[in-house]
Amino acid sequence: MDLDTPFFIFGLTTGVALTAAVQYFISAWTAAKTPHSKDSTPRDSVHHPDASPITSPDALPAIRRQSWNVPSFVAAEGTLPRLEREFTVSSHRLQTMVRHLVNEMKKGLAQDGHTLKMIPSYVISRPTGFETGSYFALDLGGSNFRVCLVILEGQGRTRVRQTKHIVSDELKTGSGEALFDFFAECISKFLQELGLDPSEARSLGFTFSFPIEQHAINSGTLMQWNKGFSATGVLKADVVELLNKALKKARINVKVTALVNDTVGTLISHAYRDPQTYVGVIFGTGTNAAYVERIEEIPKWTGPIPPTKEMVINTEWGAYDEASVLPITSFDRDLDRASTNPRKQIFEKMISGMYLGEIVRYVLLDLISTGELFKGRSSQTLTTPYQFETAYMSRIERDHSLELSDTKAVLEDILGLQATTVQDRRIVKHVCELVGIRAARLSAAGVAAIVTKMNRLDACTVAVDGSVFQNYPHFANRMRDALRELLGIMAENIVLEQARDGSGEGAALIAALHGHD
Ligand code: GLC
Repeated sequence: MDLDTPFFIFGLTTGVALTAAVQYFISAWTAAKTPHSKDSTPRDSVHHPDASPITSPDALPAIRRQSWNVPSFVAAEGTLPRLEREFTVSSHRLQTMVRHLVNEMKKGLAQDGHTLKMIPSYVISRPTGFETGSYFALDLGGSNFRVCLVILEGQGRTRVRQTKHIVSDELKTGSGEALFDFFAECISKFLQELGLDPSEARSLGFTFSFPIEQHAINSGTLMQWNKGFSATGVLKADVVELLNKALKKARINVKVTALVNDTVGTLISHAYRDPQTYVGVIFGTGTNAAYVERIEEIPKWTGPIPPTKEMVINTEWGAYDEASVLPITSFDRDLDRASTNPRKQIFEKMISGMYLGEIVRYVLLDLISTGELFKGRSSQTLTTPYQFETAYMSRIERDHSLELSDTKAVLEDILGLQATTVQDRRIVKHVCELVGIRAARLSAAGVAAIVTKMNRLDACTVAVDGSVFQNYPHFANRMRDALRELLGIMAENIVLEQARDGSGEGAALIAALHGHD
């Protein structure tokens, strides 16, 4: 049951207009009594008022006011209701989006040059679960680079040893040569740590999570940087060749046998345990999905027909940008304009961990400029781009304390805002909710489009990885709620499951499956 439900029922049955102070104390008291309350359909349903199965139209005004969980004199007029309207994604809009996405997927499968790149990954088989052996894997996803040794033990069991390195902004935006030399250096250290001789021949799977046009299972050129990367000399180059060059320079005898997107790795590693897995999704720094497509559904594929008659497709859905369908706000536009890749990756910028906090930051600055927040006063940190991290949204959404004390800590101790009031904090929390709910609902539309395109509404496991799915409170449940709205009873057949290190294990498995191609 939703944490505010007692209050809502009370409001409906008595029909009495409560004073702002009473509303505040009752909802705060209820929140404090239920610190671990589950994210539930009723609360999230207020953000899509045309979701008829969930709530009756008569109930809406009461639910909407209650949903803000701020004194009604604040929510009654001004910017906040406008924000709620702008960030709300109705069921109807989500349905339209699913239909449109399915069409875009078809276009991308037919021909290159469409918004959804629908890249054939050259991965043509899924594991049986019996694969065994030791493989090296590299994983460049966003802010981290990992070197892993994956031991496939069979029966879906694996063991992993790994080292993790932060990729600095200098490396992300410097020269490609420096970036790949850094990778080689990390591999060299890892081999040393394991006491392994670098001159001994080894093979590895390379997870490189950017749009790559694959030319073979172990070759592909970078089509575009994103997620804050812009290293020079990599665009249009074969990233495997760049890595080989750096490895040779560092005298490391390793051969790249598979070049893999993280979504493809996630799908394959989960399929090692669960054969019903046909989709791999990442909600992390960026967002993307891969799925198993029948070869006859890929008209642009001109290569040999694989014996399995299927191919994993990397959709690169982060590039989806249909302005007539996506609920793009002025804040999204501002964020996009100021980003390193303007007019690109619009869907990603509304969903993924790199951007959610930044959207909230834009909204808060707007509320400050109208004097609705923090008495119109900002701080240096809040005015600095990307300083409101998505991790802070998670903390704030998880804060059910009476005074929103953890929210206070984030705002005052980290962001340097002075003497925030409880009302300020409640507003900030609701902005986070609006942005977080929108992200989860758009994500669900993406998943619904893929299972619809595959025609697998009867049974499909969707392996999901990434910091947003793992750590953002309620994200998974909000997605499930939206899937129910979109697919009705069939949503029960679509199982969203947390994947385990798809990028490392998946690359190793693909190296194992395709090492001899
Ligand atoms: C970006 C990349 C994509 C990757 C995703 C998640 O969208 O373009 O290849 O899968 O981030 O890491």
